[in-house]
Amino acid sequence: MSDFSALSLGEERLPALELAFSLVREAWEGFDSARPGQPPPSAETLDMLAESLPQTGVGALTALREAERLLDESLAQSRPRFFGYVGSSGLEVGVLAEALSASHDVNLASLAAAATMVEQQTIGWVGEFVGFGRVGGVVTSGGMVSNLTALAVARERALPGSRRTGLDGRGTLYVSAEAHSSIDRSAELLGIGSESVRAIPIDAHRRMDVTALDAQIGADLAEGRVPIAVVATAGTTLTGAVDPLAQIAAICQQRGVWFHVDGAYGLPAAATESAGALFAGIDLADSATIDAHKWLYVPKACGILLVRDPDALRRTFAHDASYMVDAAENPVDRTLEYSRPFRSLKLWTAFRAHGAEGFRSALEANLTVARGLADRVRAHPDLELVVDPQLSIVPFRHVPARGSIDGHNAELARRMQEEGDVYVTSAVIDGMTVLRPCITNFRTTDADIEALIETVLRTGRALEGEK
Ligand SMILES: Cc1ncc(COP(=O)(O)O)c(C=O)c1O
Repeated sequence: MSDFSALSLGEERLPALELAFSLVREAWEGFDSARPGQPPPSAETLDMLAESLPQTGVGALTALREAERLLDESLAQSRPRFFGYVGSSGLEVGVLAEALSASHDVNLASLAAAATMVEQQTIGWVGEFVGFGRVGGVVTSGGMVSNLTALAVARERALPGSRRTGLDGRGTLYVSAEAHSSIDRSAELLGIGSESVRAIPIDAHRRMDVTALDAQIGADLAEGRVPIAVVATAGTTLTGAVDPLAQIAAICQQRGVWFHVDGAYGLPAAATESAGALFAGIDLADSATIDAHKWLYVPKACGILLVRDPDALRRTFAHDASYMVDAAENPVDRTLEYSRPFRSLKLWTAFRAHGAEGFRSALEANLTVARGLADRVRAHPDLELVVDPQLSIVPFRHVPARGSIDGHNAELARRMQEEGDVYVTSAVIDGMTVLRPCITNFRTTDADIEALIETVLRTGRALEGEK
């Protein structure tokens, strides 16, 4: 029998490491500036993707080169002119820490010595960074799971024992009309039901109307319903609006309702000088979601759920597993997931490497670039700013000389995506189809914004000419 497993790299190890090093370096150098167009999957790739399971291997070097080609032909959010959705941008030191973490393959379900402490320290740092307070929490796969986890905790607090007995249909949740759909999904999964999620109207600044919130809670209580949680959004996905956290906190305190803040996208901006005031009251929330894989730049996945009373997590998730009896309590007793990778290491390493100051300055730069985009849009006669940006999402549209403005902008987004010089998605705001660039990439500069405007105008005019 050989001394090595069939899965060991053996003599290929060093060449594989050297190849991986050069592939990562080429990728990063390629992200330093924009590239024209986006190559579609090549014929070679399509052939390879039609192949069935290989019975013998081609070796690590060939497989790595193939993987690199697949990535080059994929949409990479790391590119400076990727403005779609709310993306992360593959912060370099985070990428390296992620590779290290994967190598050690620590499991955070059980006690993992230093890694368990790093997770808690990172959560504390994030709480401190955004002004929530240095408390506890869990690291998750992202905003969806963080919101689901927080609402499971709130449900158990509002209806003690319901994790075992199930619900009786009385529970209600409160969100703004523009909250992320992960709240509806959570309500469905938790047995609360999305019909019991009250979509509170928004004001002229697209923020939850607190008078309507208070009235709705009052009406529900009068009918014998049990308010489980109010979920404020700190940076809506559609426009970046931040709900009035302090006023919502006051209502929650008075009514005795759990106050959760979904800051998956926007909460990092609480640490900035220019936007921090929008988040006043974050220190009053019971829990808050923040995705480090959005606007803290580290690669996916890294979601943080901050919880002021971490014991509430244990009351919701603790279970006895007969194969996990060596410790009085395991980290899995405070989370939804079992096997959990060491996701926090990349954020911990990034905070160590760049300091809070480095993050604040990158966030401030994104905000400045976003405001610059809004100014340029306002100043151009063929462009219309649809919402004044509160954070780094800048919804606007190109105004054609004639024809349907909505159809034109939907087609414009599709055409720009096909051509690939810039990547922008469309969205519907108050029935209007708009372009919705999000600036959350530490590589994006004013020059990229100029290119975005130039591409919108050029492509918009070309579309008009085709009519
Ligand atoms: C406000 C908000 N909450 C939750 C989510 C879901 O986050 P994730 O995609 O990490 O699950 C998003 C995603 O964009 C979001 O913007």
